[in-house]
Amino acid sequence: MTATDPALLHRDPHYTYPVLVKGEGIYLYDEAGNRYIDGTAGAGNVTLGHGRHEVVEAMAAQGRELAYCFSTFFTNQPALEYAHRLAELAPGDLNHAYFVSGGSEGVETAIKLARLYHVQRVQAQKHQIIGRWRGYHGATLGALAATGMPGLRAPFEPYLPAFPHIASCYPYRCAFAGCEDRCNLTCARQLEETIREVGADNIAAFIAEPVVMAGVAAGVPPPDYYPLIRQICDEHDVLFIADEIITGFGRTGKLFAIEHWDVVPDMIVFGKGASSGYAPLGGVLLSEQMRRDLTRSGQALPHVFTYVNNPVSMRAGLAVLDLLEEESIVEHAAQVGGYLQEKAQGLTRHACVGQVRGKSLMLGIELVQDRRSRKPFPPEWGVSRRVPQLTLERGLAISGASGGADWVAGDDLRFYPPLIITKEQLDESLAIIDECLELLEEELRQKGWVPT
Ligand SMILES: Cc1ncc(COP(=O)(O)O)c(C=O)c1O
Repeated sequence: MTATDPALLHRDPHYTYPVLVKGEGIYLYDEAGNRYIDGTAGAGNVTLGHGRHEVVEAMAAQGRELAYCFSTFFTNQPALEYAHRLAELAPGDLNHAYFVSGGSEGVETAIKLARLYHVQRVQAQKHQIIGRWRGYHGATLGALAATGMPGLRAPFEPYLPAFPHIASCYPYRCAFAGCEDRCNLTCARQLEETIREVGADNIAAFIAEPVVMAGVAAGVPPPDYYPLIRQICDEHDVLFIADEIITGFGRTGKLFAIEHWDVVPDMIVFGKGASSGYAPLGGVLLSEQMRRDLTRSGQALPHVFTYVNNPVSMRAGLAVLDLLEEESIVEHAAQVGGYLQEKAQGLTRHACVGQVRGKSLMLGIELVQDRRSRKPFPPEWGVSRRVPQLTLERGLAISGASGGADWVAGDDLRFYPPLIITKEQLDESLAIIDECLELLEEELRQKGWVPT
């Protein structure tokens, strides 16, 4: 059995995946003995780092007592306890929880709860969900319909309901006049325009990631953005769903990223960091009013997954909350995250770096052919694939993506390590990125690139 064994359908048939055998702290080890810094925390999951025996022991103990419980007939203590703990920690009156087994399931649930809420209030026409171009909300069809990434949507378009989309907040490449790096909130006002176009009577909810990672490499909207979004949603009886699947549980230096804007959404969808990758876990936190109206009819919700309230996942979630508190991990993330954002600005010494941006331990690096015009590199040069290859060879796993400029061209890199990372480990990671950008520039010059 090898990394290229066809028995297992991997995502990319052209890539030879290192076979991992161990994880410890911020490090991953493969079967050939190579060590990698997990510079994406396993795509935003492993907030506490690898090898956390406390979480594993809590799950094992729960598994020995009660490993499974079907939520249609029974409930369980860990689920009740976890719901109470989250209610204490969530912003505003988001005091009610619905637990599932991952991010996409959480988004599907939020979409359905938004719809059911309006149906209960005899607003039966309200059904559309407004998403944003460059937003990512998951792989399942409802979540994909809200997602604004054409490459992921294209093959499945025939299955997707026609949800409207507005622009994401992306000042570096904003198409609206007058923005020029300083967002003038035209993108937020587009929400109101779209609600008017489609008719508020047709709109159930608006969904957004507080800080976009998949589509805008750590794009952070200005302080007025979400207050304006909240106001527009309130004026049109549209629910605001914050997708915190990647930003939640400390990634941006607060438990939930939306707290940076002092805004309380109607629902928060979470996943990934909730269990730090130790168990499949996601969910929706919802407001008092939503719970009241959803349960008013006295009828059972027409929505369930097999792993709702799974006791072992609940224990993982509780153990993660314990560790976040005991080790002040969110505070640590805020502190070292500030250091990262400042220090990473040094990467702009490379002519190929157009912008370094982000919030706390979410870092995005946009690469450009020409800094003045922001012209992207030719897509066939594969710049955003090349740098992660180079860093991996030097012991750092980061990710890259293309399409930032026009869905085909436009390259960026993403670094979002476990929240337990130290300043020294951040220095080590940035040094590797710095070295690899140097190597990239050498290769680009050989291709005829002239730095400006
Ligand atoms: C913002 C956001 N929403 C939704 C999802 C989907 O979550 P999952 O892959 O756990 O289904 C992701 C996953 O990367 C995400 O980053």
